[in-house]
Amino acid sequence: MIKPKAVADGNMGNIIAKIIEGGFNIKALKYTRLTEGDAMKFYAVHKERPFYNDLVKFMTSGPIIAAVLEKDNAVEAYRNFIGATNPADAEEGTIRKLYGTSIEANAVHGSDSDENAQIESNFYFSEREMF
Ligand code: CMP
Repeated sequence: MIKPKAVADGNMGNIIAKIIEGGFNIKALKYTRLTEGDAMKFYAVHKERPFYNDLVKFMTSGPIIAAVLEKDNAVEAYRNFIGATNPADAEEGTIRKLYGTSIEANAVHGSDSDENAQIESNFYFSEREMF
């Protein structure tokens, strides 16, 4: 996902271009906005965390881009590519370093396992929307 602040800042094109340059194949792409219920469900694994309510509020604050990406070892490759969760700790040249402004508004989300990648892909896309 490209998060609301990165979209609002006008960086969705730059981020998608960088993802393609990074060798990721775009299998599915969607411009949409999460309802409160959607965001609560998407981030349900974090529901006990102190930042959950703010995260849900932020993620519903504007449109986002959802995408499914393909690459060898895609989950790990993408996590390395985007950088640390907190942009302040992310390496130079990573998406979060370039476009993230806080730990919450860290520009993009990436799945943390193949299993969650499958769940999160199915959250946004039907079979016929993935190529
Ligand atoms: P994301 O990859 O979308 O997965 C969960 C999100 O929770 C994470 O990126 C951050 O934006 C957010 N998050 C994680 N830890 C914190 C924290 N300590 N404070 C606020 N937000 C956090």
